[in-house]
Amino acid sequence: MRRNKISVIGAGNVGATLAQFLAAKELGDIYLFDVVDGVPEGKALDIAEGTPHFRTSVEVKGFTTTNPEAYKNMADSDVIVVTAGLARKPGMSRDDLLNKNLEIISDVGKNIKKYSPNSVLVVVSNPADIMAYALQKATGINPKMIMGLGGSLDSSRFRYFIAQELGVAVEDVNAFVIGGHGDDMVPFVRYSSVSGIPISNLLSKEKIDEIIKRTRFGGGEIVNYLKTGSAYYAPGISITAMVESIIRDRKRVIPCAAYLDGSKGKHYNASGIFIGVPIKIGKDGVEEIYEMDFNKDELALWEKTVLSVKNSCKLVDQFFSKN
Ligand code: LMR
Repeated sequence: MRRNKISVIGAGNVGATLAQFLAAKELGDIYLFDVVDGVPEGKALDIAEGTPHFRTSVEVKGFTTTNPEAYKNMADSDVIVVTAGLARKPGMSRDDLLNKNLEIISDVGKNIKKYSPNSVLVVVSNPADIMAYALQKATGINPKMIMGLGGSLDSSRFRYFIAQELGVAVEDVNAFVIGGHGDDMVPFVRYSSVSGIPISNLLSKEKIDEIIKRTRFGGGEIVNYLKTGSAYYAPGISITAMVESIIRDRKRVIPCAAYLDGSKGKHYNASGIFIGVPIKIGKDGVEEIYEMDFNKDELALWEKTVLSVKNSCKLVDQFFSKN
């Protein structure tokens, strides 16, 4: 029987950490691609040599893409995860990466279109909502087959901070973050609970505000510690949850950047952009987008994050009109 095939573009910290989580979970054969000569081959071999301890039978292979022919090896991938691009350094926002990462995504997109146009795509390169939009432009792939990292990671941070504050098990905290994966993201308090008990019954407003702020700047907190790059362990496992739901058709409901086309219901009063909303993830990619009602304050936060994503998408449109 053919094993699933997962291609990971970019073998930096996020790509390699992800590859190891995927190998540990035996989600499929893993093909790592990177532009830095020898790095994908070396990291793939290193990960593969550890698989006897995981007791998992998967192949892990690496390909340097200075030779563009290398991309042929991603043909017929079930899932392609795009992590390629620059990571931010202290003092930068994710949006500061837009111009450089746009060029990289555009190039990766051409190769995906050529060699594996039927894969489900998971976009991680920052700013992720905008890069998901760009990858759709570059590939022309059905937007339902594309999702961006954001809420999966931000919600994990939000859940962790709530659990820490209350001294309860993380698994009993259900909380999620919607909107763009930037400083305007919206940690959604009204639907956050501990085993069904609303967090507003358990924590003061001041404490909740503190946790929201820490969640919004969670990526930046790690960047400030690391100084030379950004987080990769929490991103790696958050992407793994998305990939697992696609590969095993688990139908998990996770907030991720998905394309809003305005065709169904209110669609969050937004259309023509990718932005974080709760979605059902299965073998066909984004299988459902769940609507939520906002009160006045939530709507203001939502409109702010939508505006910021829309403005960045305009830069993508300009780029593609010239390239
Ligand atoms: C994160 O949230 O950790 C990633 O988006 C990386 C970053 O720059 O913050």
